[in-house]
This record gives sequence, C-alpha cells and structure tokens, in this order.
Amino acid sequence: MAHGAVHTPDVCIASIYSFTAFCSSILVAFAALETVNADNAFSASRAATAPVAAARDLRYLLYDVNPPEGFNLRRDVYIRMASMVKTLRKEGDDWVLVLPPWGRLYHWQSPNVHQVHIPWGEFFSLTSLQANVPVIEYEEFIAENGGPFIDQVLVLQNYAEGWTDGKWEEKVDERPCVDKLMYSKDKQGYYRGWFWGYEETRARNVTCISAQGHASIMAPVLQKNITVTSVMLDRAETLLHDHYAGKDYWDTRRSMVFAKHLRLIGDGFREKYLNSTDDRDHTIYSEDWTRMKAKLGSAKGGPYLGVHLRRKDFIWGHREDVPSLKGAVKKMRSLMKKHKLDTVFVATDADEEELRELKGLLPDMVRFEPSREDLELLKDGGVAIIDQWICAHARFFIGTSVSTFSFRIHEEREILGFDPKATYNRFCGDTEKDCEQPTHWKIVF
Ligand SMILES: *[C@@H]1O[C@H](CO)[C@@H](O)[C@H](O)[C@H]1NC(C)=O
Ligand SMILES: *[C@@H]1O[C@H](CO)[C@@H](O)[C@H](O)[C@H]1NC(C)=O
Ligand SMILES: *[C@@H]1O[C@H](CO)[C@@H](O)[C@H](O)[C@H]1NC(C)=O
Repeated sequence: MAHGAVHTPDVCIASIYSFTAFCSSILVAFAALETVNADNAFSASRAATAPVAAARDLRYLLYDVNPPEGFNLRRDVYIRMASMVKTLRKEGDDWVLVLPPWGRLYHWQSPNVHQVHIPWGEFFSLTSLQANVPVIEYEEFIAENGGPFIDQVLVLQNYAEGWTDGKWEEKVDERPCVDKLMYSKDKQGYYRGWFWGYEETRARNVTCISAQGHASIMAPVLQKNITVTSVMLDRAETLLHDHYAGKDYWDTRRSMVFAKHLRLIGDGFREKYLNSTDDRDHTIYSEDWTRMKAKLGSAKGGPYLGVHLRRKDFIWGHREDVPSLKGAVKKMRSLMKKHKLDTVFVATDADEEELRELKGLLPDMVRFEPSREDLELLKDGGVAIIDQWICAHARFFIGTSVSTFSFRIHEEREILGFDPKATYNRFCGDTEKDCEQPTHWKIVF
C-alpha cells in the first residue's frame, strides 16, 4: 500500500528489494527468451527477403550520438535512423541497423555500477524493434562481420559557413572536418576512437560530411557514393526527422516496447504501492505493438498523480520555465485535490539536498527506489524506464518543460490511450508569464 510504504521507508525499500529479487530470476529467463525470439525473427526476416536478395548485398548501418546527449534524446535519434534504414531498403541493398550499445551517459551516475556495453535487449524488446525494421545488437554485428571493423565512419557536421544567404536548403557534401577529429590513426593505419567502449573496434576510414536536412538526404550518399559494407554515422543527431510525428515516426516509436522484465517490475510496483492494475485502469497492453490501437480517452489510469520533476542542469541555468520545489509541490497538491487523488508518484533526478527538501514538503510522495543490487541489475536506464512506465499509467500526469524524459512519457500515454488533457501538462516557472503547455502529437496509424 502506498501510504504504508511512505511512512516506513525502510520497510518499503526492503520489500521492493525482495519483490525485484523475485523479478531478477524472471529477468534472466526473459532475457534468454528474447534472444531466441529475436534470432528467429531476424533470420525469418532475412529468409523472407532471400529470393530478392540475389542482387542485394547485406550492408550495415551503425551510428552514434554526440556524447553529452542523454538516454531519451538518443531514443529519438534511433527513430531517425530507423527511418533512414527503411528508405535505404526501398532500393538497392539489404541494410540492417546496428544498435549502438548503451553506456557512459552523463546522467547515469550511480557509482560503481558497470554501465558500458549494455545491449538494447536490456531495455527494449528486440522482437518488437525487429517487427519495424531489421536491427541487430553490436556484438552480433561483430560476429557476422568477422571482427570489430567498421569500413567507413562518416562524421556528420554542420556547414562551416552556416546557411548561405540565410537560406535553408537541404544539402550534403564531403568537407574538411570542422571540429577536431575524435578519431586517430594507429600504427597499422586503422582509426581508433570511442566505439561504445569496445577498445578493439577500429575503423578503416573516417571522413567528415557536412549535412543539412532530413535523415533521408544521406540515402543517396550511402547507396551511390559509398560501396563498402559497414558504414557508421557519427553525430547522427545532426540529421532531422524525415516526418516528425508522421506514420513512420509513430510506427518506429510504437515498436520501441520496453523490455518485458522492466514492465513487469513497474506493474508490480503499481499494484503493490499505487493500487493500480491494468484491468481496473483500462490500460491493457498488447505484447504485439502492431495491435496496440487504444482509443484516445479509453485509458483511465491508476488512482495517483504521476509527476516527472526534472532538476539538476534544468535549475542550474535558472531557467524561467522550471519551478522552485515549493512551487512544484503547490501545483501537485492542487492537482491531487482537483482530480481527487490521494497519492502522488514522483520521478526525479533531484540531488540529495533537493530530495531532502522535497521529502520535507511532500512527505507522502511515492518513489521507485531500487536497492543497490537491483540497481546493478536494472542500471540507471532500467530505472528510468520503470519510472516512465509508472508515470505513463497515472490517472493524471504532469512533467517538466522541454524535457525529453517527459516527452517520452507523453508518447507512452498516447499509445495507452489517455485523454490528452491528462497527459500534455507541465509545471510552470514560479514567475513565468506565458506558460505554454506541451503539444499534443496524435498517433498516425
Ligand atoms: C556523391 O557523388 C556525386 C556524383 O559523383 C558527387 O557529385 C557528390 O558530391 C558526392 N557526394 C558526397 C557527399 O560525397
Ligand atoms: C575514405 O573515404 C573517402 C570517402 O568515401 C574516400 O574518398 C577515400 O578514398 C577513402 N580513403 C581510403 C584510403 O579508402
Ligand atoms: C483500490 O482501488 C479500488 C477501486 O479502484 C478500491 O475499491 C479499493 O478500496 C482500493 N484499495 C485500497 C487499498 O486503497
């Protein structure tokens, strides 16, 4: 029960621990299951294209993102890359997207938790991703490719001269590198650099490309100018979405189903501490995302207020659109009263000092607090997903202005079929005058 959990934090943590310890054994079982399914799905998809494949070469698209970018923006860049692979596959070769291992993210600061070389399967359902576009994990790529070699790295950059005549046009050209190249040649003439922490990985060639436009402007370059088998786009966030919030965007977004063990842990927490179950809350989830077509307004959600309160760098910059803790708590209390909710679930990155202040102001809040052992197992990424999953099932949600963490929750709630009024809400700064609320992006099926 939520309140019991809150007033006796020690018991709460202890019981979460035993609960997730139980889940850990499922985790291993599911992980194994996922791998098997993914393998099947993948060879099946390849077998299906085999007859046409006579003239089609198997090619690999790898990518990476500017190091400071966090988990939730990286998820957005995946959508752009998946879209590009779809474009590439329409003519010519049999392109496969290689999933960049997770690791060394700025926000993943839990001490002493090993957080590199994390495969996507730990956070997302590979079978679900596969149903959208062919993807493989990086280690599978190494095995298929016969070694940790990437034929060509293209470092994407803007044009040194900016927009010429202030006019926007889509273009792409090979250009000298604008910034210092983050790759250097070794004695054998291979390029070394950051390849997701895989020190033995090297590239055969690195060039800089100035690109301005949608992801698919790279397609002709990859199809015609470059003929090698494996190509990595570094700084892939330079490319824009082909059609933000269009059908293709949503297909890919819907295919990014969270890994089952994380959803199970989130569901268990909802039931135990938030009195929230899918049956009662009308949030039945289909394992097959292609069949998940909940009508807007059909989801009721659990009897709690879901809150994402982003702090740290959002407050260091004294942003006008971010509230004080006092201001945020006042808003939460008024929302709870208005929607007749007794419980509030808070996902926050607040530091220890702020957390102490928040607990003082809102002693009855519920948070997902993994034990040390669970954290090692789930990693910071898994905890973020569980927080998002719980927020996604709340009767009413409020997030933080222009936070990608909040945006991903909006999308999850859109998929579950919540009334937009219960989703697209954000805190206002204490003195913010024109507090514009987030945009409603409707799913295109
Ligand atoms: C690709 O090849 C075309 C034709 O040879 C050339 O005009 C163009 O500049 C090349 N693009 C890049 C990015 O190398
Ligand atoms: C490296 O890649 C560029 C761009 O594709 C190409 O022009 C150049 O010839 C390549 N260099 C080598 C040594 O293969
Ligand atoms: C849980 O919710 C149901 C209705 O949704 C309610 O009948 C029940 O009393 C609640 N249980 C607790 C422990 O609050």
